[in-house]
Amino acid sequence: MNPPNIEILPTKDGSVTLYLPSMDETYHSRHGAVCESMYVYLLRGVVDWYLDRREVSGLGVSGLRVFEMGFGTGLNAWLLSEFAERMGLLVGYCGIEKFPLGKEIRDTVDFGFEDICGHWKRVNGSLMDGLFDDNRFFKEHWQRLFDQDYIVLDGGSADVGLMDLKKLNEGEDCGNSMFYKFEGDVLRDLERVMPLGIDVVFWDAFAPKKQPELWSVELFDRVFQRMGVGGVLVTYTANSQVRRNLVAVGFRVERVAGPPGKKHMLRAWK
Ligand SMILES: C[S@@+](CC[C@H](N)C(=O)[O-])C[C@H]1O[C@@H](n2cnc3c(N)ncnc32)[C@H](O)[C@@H]1O
Repeated sequence: MNPPNIEILPTKDGSVTLYLPSMDETYHSRHGAVCESMYVYLLRGVVDWYLDRREVSGLGVSGLRVFEMGFGTGLNAWLLSEFAERMGLLVGYCGIEKFPLGKEIRDTVDFGFEDICGHWKRVNGSLMDGLFDDNRFFKEHWQRLFDQDYIVLDGGSADVGLMDLKKLNEGEDCGNSMFYKFEGDVLRDLERVMPLGIDVVFWDAFAPKKQPELWSVELFDRVFQRMGVGGVLVTYTANSQVRRNLVAVGFRVERVAGPPGKKHMLRAWK
């Protein structure tokens, strides 16, 4: 069920976001939902992790394991799936969401699917230009991921998902990308849904001022324990208390240039 009074707002790049009046919070940047997602999570997260692993550390990369705090509309997860497919990378993705959105959202939300290649060109600084040019079935792919059932942690369907998750935990190559959506509370369920050895963390909680408990030293420490060495956590905020909390648990934290309309964001390496 949707949280009460959810609204759909246009953003500056032509895609939309969701707005929760009760919290006065949007799910993405009002400066551009798709551009933010591509820039913060794909470019400064997945792509930079990939380049670091391949070019700096000289290691082969056939796949990656990603954890997301706050599945929401699935925008980040969907862009990750498109990116990985084009790069020939296998993905093991686990995302957690406390308040799954109602299915009707799928028919009312438009992430500017016609112009995904344009968005990419606007944010990527000519790196991997042309990656999204084929423009095929973007909407259908996002809808499929959005429609995919959540694994309800307290419900009967949890076993299947958690069994497969064990493969991710043990670093097994599953031969196919796997996307798992868990319905749960990250504060309570983190260890049940975040496999060990995660390479990239998308930390996409609502703003630190609104939900400080999701940006605490205690929670970041639990996340840190489950990441692989060389793994990276990316988030849209550049909040200085968040930065100090990440440093306190042992991350090497960078304040890097932000997506369109935002000066900075944070990136934290283990
Ligand atoms: C900024 S939005 C995330 C947007 C999302 N990544 C997307 O691409 O649409 C924050 C999300 O965190 C979820 N959330 C809030 N508290 C949570 C909690 N304790 N555990 C898990 N998810 C939570 C919200 O319901 C919301 O979907």
